[in-house]
Amino acid sequence: MDEILGGGTGEYIVVRAEEDGVSIFGLTRGRDTRFHHTEKLDKGEIYIAEFTEMTSAMKIKGKVTVFCRHGVVKSSE
Ligand code: TRP
Repeated sequence: MDEILGGGTGEYIVVRAEEDGVSIFGLTRGRDTRFHHTEKLDKGEIYIAEFTEMTSAMKIKGKVTVFCRHGVVKSSE
C-alpha cells in the first residue's frame, strides 16, 4: 500500500456546523505552532478530521458540536 501522507494517528474529531461560516484551523505539530490548513463549513455540514504527524491541534471558530473520544462538546455563543 502507498505511504499515507501526513502520518495519521488514528485520532479523529467530527465537527458539525450549527451555523454558517464556521472555520476550522489545523495547527502544526512540533516547536512551531502555525496554521497550515483552514476549512469553512456551513450549517449542517460535517467535517471529519484526523490528527496527524503534521497536525497536533485544531482551532474552531463558530457554533459547532464536536464529537470525539473525550465526549460531545458544544461551543458557546
Ligand atoms: N506545535 C504545538 C505542539 O506540537 C502545537 C500545540 C499542541 C500546542 N498543543 C498545544 C500549542 C497546546 C499550545 C498549547 O505541541
